Amino acid sequence: MSSCCDPTGLTGMFDEKHARSKARRYRRDGLDAEARRIVEFLGERIAGRTVLEVGGGIGAIQLELLRRGASNAENVEISPGYEAVALDLATERGVADRIVRRVADFAVDNASASAADIVVLNRVVCCYPDMPALVGPAARLTKRWLVLTFPADRWWVRAGFRTVSAVQALLRSRFRVFFHEPRAIVAAATAAGLRPLATHRGLVWQLVALERA
Ligand SMILES: C[S@@+](CC[C@H](N)C(=O)[O-])C[C@H]1O[C@@H](n2cnc3c(N)ncnc32)[C@H](O)[C@@H]1O
Repeated sequence: MSSCCDPTGLTGMFDEKHARSKARRYRRDGLDAEARRIVEFLGERIAGRTVLEVGGGIGAIQLELLRRGASNAENVEISPGYEAVALDLATERGVADRIVRRVADFAVDNASASAADIVVLNRVVCCYPDMPALVGPAARLTKRWLVLTFPADRWWVRAGFRTVSAVQALLRSRFRVFFHEPRAIVAAATAAGLRPLATHRGLVWQLVALERA
């Protein structure tokens, strides 16, 4: 439910019902393609590393990184609807004591987040109007690798996201999607001392990985 306290419409969009459906799918099918690509990219880099995920939803990526040897994880998520579901999943996998979850708008409340070796934002920047306010602090908190996915630099993705966003504006929806320029996303991260390491441009989503220079 959107309200005066949900100016971006995110908590209304990503509510507990959404979280339960994501968890059902995760229990049945495991990670989706984008999340799998992130974990596969990190591969050998995972063992012993700390993880910070922004907008991690039910926390599936963290569960997989912890299973593969990451030491601990922190999740900063604006929507409270995920919390009970995420705790159930982490408890089932026996890693609840290695995950700290905080409900906060990371763009305005990131001072208490801990720097981590691996920082992940999977399909998050396209849900938030102020991209630099998300990516800048995420990059500053990255000790080694920052991995982001966002709408791909393809004409049909630009057109699709801009059309949906325009319709949402017309319908006065609080929740909006945003096509942020991929170059600007990378620039926001490099301004914090990271350098591009790898990219994968899929049909809809693009993955960019950067490392601390
Ligand atoms: C499309 S969902 C993706 C969830 C998860 N990363 C995944 O790929 O399954 C976007 C998520 O980002 C979260 N989010 C968006 N802006 C945020 C912000 N400023 N701070 C924290 N979380 C945010 C939303 O609440 C939502 O859970």
